[in-house]
Amino acid sequence: MIMRRMNLPRLPERWEEIDFTISAAGSGFTKISVSGKKGFLDGLSKERHPNRDELLHLLGHKRATTGEFQGDRVSIYKSGDFLKIEVEYPNTVCLGLGDKTGGVNRRGRFHFWNMDDANHGIFSDPLYQSHPIAYFISEGVGVVIVDSPAYQYWDISEYGAKIVVKDLDASVYVAEFFSLAEAYGNVAQFLGTFTLPPLWAIGYQQSRWSYWDEGKFRELSRRFQEEGIPCDVFYMDIDYMDGYRCFTVDRNRFPNLKALASEIDQKLVAIIDPGLKVDKSYRLYEEGMRQNFFMRDISGKVYTDRVWPGACHFPDFLDQGVREWWGDQYSSLLDMGIEGYWNDMNEPSTFSLRRTFPKNLVHIDGRRHGDVHNIYGLMMARGTYEGLRKLRPNDRPFVLTRSSYLGGQNFAWMWTGDNKSTWEFLKLSVRQMQSISISGQPLCGADVGGFSGNPDSELMVRWMQLGVFYPLFRNHTAYGTENQEPWEFPKVLQELRDAIRLRYKLLPYIYTQFFLSSLGLGPIIRPMTWIDKGVDERCMNRQFMFGEQMLVAPVLETTDNMEVILPNGIWHDFFTGEQFQGKITVEVDLSTIPLFVKSGSSIPLAKEVRQNAESTFATGIEIRNYGEDPKGLLYRDNGKDLTYRQGNFELYRLPQMECIWND
Ligand code: GLC
Repeated sequence: MIMRRMNLPRLPERWEEIDFTISAAGSGFTKISVSGKKGFLDGLSKERHPNRDELLHLLGHKRATTGEFQGDRVSIYKSGDFLKIEVEYPNTVCLGLGDKTGGVNRRGRFHFWNMDDANHGIFSDPLYQSHPIAYFISEGVGVVIVDSPAYQYWDISEYGAKIVVKDLDASVYVAEFFSLAEAYGNVAQFLGTFTLPPLWAIGYQQSRWSYWDEGKFRELSRRFQEEGIPCDVFYMDIDYMDGYRCFTVDRNRFPNLKALASEIDQKLVAIIDPGLKVDKSYRLYEEGMRQNFFMRDISGKVYTDRVWPGACHFPDFLDQGVREWWGDQYSSLLDMGIEGYWNDMNEPSTFSLRRTFPKNLVHIDGRRHGDVHNIYGLMMARGTYEGLRKLRPNDRPFVLTRSSYLGGQNFAWMWTGDNKSTWEFLKLSVRQMQSISISGQPLCGADVGGFSGNPDSELMVRWMQLGVFYPLFRNHTAYGTENQEPWEFPKVLQELRDAIRLRYKLLPYIYTQFFLSSLGLGPIIRPMTWIDKGVDERCMNRQFMFGEQMLVAPVLETTDNMEVILPNGIWHDFFTGEQFQGKITVEVDLSTIPLFVKSGSSIPLAKEVRQNAESTFATGIEIRNYGEDPKGLLYRDNGKDLTYRQGNFELYRLPQMECIWND
């Protein structure tokens, strides 16, 4: 049923075992290949913090570990143009697979074929992104990564995985490590981490499809100020454009974006989709045609499909020349003061029955689309990221993408697409954030409040209180839904305000976690198995670690008390400092945010909360200590440019504020 609906291939039944070659791939991984050809990850430029080794040494972490590989755990079979990879990794828990529904502990069947399933439910598969990576946890941790942008099918059990790939050139990477932290560190090194985001990207973000004109953004900014609710970002959804033509602006509704951008406390982030309107008077369309930059069908005709602007052609982002051309287009929007970019619909999504490109479309280098489908979105985001780096060489780019693939964090943040305003989707996001993060993409979020539908006040509060801990904290909603800004829920406005203000209070801790994550020392959101192997599955699906020292147990249903299971050791209530251990019951009212701090932690907070991240940071640091012999870290830099890459940042050991790095 699902196969037909998504146009996924039928899998062969007969297989023949074949030989493979192995080679060392770096970061502890062994590469297994049948054809010996280079894969996508071989050619990827990977982001690594330039001072990583020195910093890891300073922080007392091991710089490199070896990783083991036992060849008899892997068998490879072939049938036609399919490969089957069987890996034997008996496991109690399997983590990973990125943007998937289901439990954090992966069991069962999964498809990798990037797809905009706009009306998806909490069991739907596949969705927008592909991260074919899994951690098999038993005594040690076995990691398997399958690098192929073609269709993949994974069947995971407590014995390991059976993986089918429609690509004889797929590369398989395997390694065994002692712990999850060690495994993740090597994965981060292998897939690349991320350029530190601008500080403003870590603040609260307000979006809707669409804020209609400049006046609306001024009004929003004023209202956030009046309500005492900090906010760093406003999004411009598709209606800011002139007839949905990418890189144009409707001058009637947005006559002076530059003035707007300089007046408000918030940064503007604009959406850009891949489809370019077929329109002879549209410069970009003309340029794309003239330079042969668009996808073609098998007969050589430029491919046309419908998206928001009507009939569109689609740039071939796999081509470097196309990406450079695309990247250059951001110049005029940047000049208008728009600082961040949101790449959407890049699975790619089209309005045809198939909902994406046909598999037999031809890329500029001759490859068939079906062989590379899952990297189209990532390559668009890459073009955007590289364009921004070129046009503003001193600035940290902010790119958000809906579609992606392994390594996407090198270029962009991601969000989980069109969720719904229901309790089930609220719960799902807890699992998704953990899976996406552990797959190497710590920069993630889900639409707070839900995209389609209208949350009631209680659901909105609970979602905002959870969103405080999403790395990407964005409230977004669909066209035609009711307004979803905090003051639209007057009965719970105080609770919503308190939640957003908590995010700002925590900013110094959160920013430090981003820094540590950029070194590969763990994603920002982590499954509880990270520190407690014995954790039960139900608990793992509902609670998560937030950085190294915090545990979040969000309220996910209507209740006046809930059970929280704390990992080993003593934990403190973040707000009161009260000590707890093991399984506890927490009394809950609408204002409750169950947030716990590991005993022995020193947590840096903002002294005061102001209107945005920068002004909040400028108020100075308050240190809160929990338990005996508290320890912690504080990272600081200018939050804007790339000079941190030359060592221009400060690192302090808490609670004494002992400076251990200051350039
Ligand atoms: C897609 C996006 C959504 C956006 C809409 C209009 O559905 O997922 O976030 O608001 O398109 O651009």
